[in-house]
Amino acid sequence: MSKWQELEGKYFMKTVERLPVTIVRGQGSRVWDENGKEYLDFVAGWAVNCLGHCPQVVVEAVTEQVRTLIQTSNQFYTVPQVQLAEILVQHSCLDKVFPCNSGTEANEGAVKLARRYGKRHLNGAYEVITAMSSFHGRTLAMVAATGQPKYQQSYIPLTTGFVNVEYNNVEAIKEATTNQTCAVMLEPLQGEGGVNLVSDGYLAAVRDWCDQKGILLILDEIQTGVGRTGTLFAYEKYGVEPDIMTLAKGLASGIPIGAILAKNRASVFTPGDHGSTFGGNPVACAAGYATMKYIIDNDVAGNAKRVGQYFIAKLEQLKQKFQFITDVRGCGLLIAMEFGSDVANSVLEACLDRGLLVNCVKPNTLRFMPPLVISTSEVDEAISILDEALPSIVSWK
Ligand SMILES: Cc1ncc(COP(=O)(O)O)c(C=O)c1O
Repeated sequence: MSKWQELEGKYFMKTVERLPVTIVRGQGSRVWDENGKEYLDFVAGWAVNCLGHCPQVVVEAVTEQVRTLIQTSNQFYTVPQVQLAEILVQHSCLDKVFPCNSGTEANEGAVKLARRYGKRHLNGAYEVITAMSSFHGRTLAMVAATGQPKYQQSYIPLTTGFVNVEYNNVEAIKEATTNQTCAVMLEPLQGEGGVNLVSDGYLAAVRDWCDQKGILLILDEIQTGVGRTGTLFAYEKYGVEPDIMTLAKGLASGIPIGAILAKNRASVFTPGDHGSTFGGNPVACAAGYATMKYIIDNDVAGNAKRVGQYFIAKLEQLKQKFQFITDVRGCGLLIAMEFGSDVANSVLEACLDRGLLVNCVKPNTLRFMPPLVISTSEVDEAISILDEALPSIVSWK
């Protein structure tokens, strides 16, 4: 254990089982630890470093902004906020933006917006229907929204106003809808819940139901947005437009940020309804604008789609070779490999030894979410490490 790892144990609240690596530097798709060991990074800060580590355009935008203006209060106009909002609106189906600081905060604000809509247009309806196996964040309200008992148990009584129903089952949403329902909130692909793909027609059927009932559809694109699934936003693939969408993670290449986007009709906040000291911070927004502009100008989502398909095809070949791989699934560069037993952590450790970072999303499932700018040769490198690491998992033999 290194000095830094020992000190962490002394000073830090233990909320995560860390891996025994202290990362000190990153560039492109690679990071280095304190001993100089190099790793190919297929975690990317949990689907954050979409342009890789320390991308030049973002480093330059942030450096320039830090020299110019770091923070001011939201009582004043600032240029980077408006630039970010404009590029988001011009390239999505949404009309208005509220910038904030994280994914959880964006979702929390989206639910407030939906409740505000309920007060104004739905006789005070306030309930939000969400899915089992979802992940919407860690505040008390978002723990209640997140349909995973493991995140809820320690915090009972949960915040009221949320109903968790089965994912990919529109009938369950219909049954849960009452005259208190103001919105349905879903991920277009459940990332943290295990890379669970949305089934054909589900989102369109949910959209129809929301329209019939006059309630809002919130899409949490915190993990799927900004090119991750091969289109700029995942909703584009399903011919479904949300009334409210949330973003975070890759939006500013790693500078903390979140955003609520809404259609005009759902954009019902009035002055004083919501706010944030740091939300819309000039440095974060400059990073967000530089990231979005690069992604759009360089069709980074297209690269995620192409390289993602290549990666899935290569993982399928590994599945043919190793019978304990039971499933390979994903979209763009959000991909899972599932095993017949709980060996994901052992595979992760075997990869770590060999210089590849992967994520264990469930005891039997690995998740890959590399930078969206990776090349097929970097995928080949990851595949050859996996090919070498997988036979070392003795428990499957
Ligand atoms: C779909 C989704 N929503 C919300 C969140 C929470 O975002 P944050 O950790 O930035 O608060 C996450 C984080 O993993 C997520 O994947």
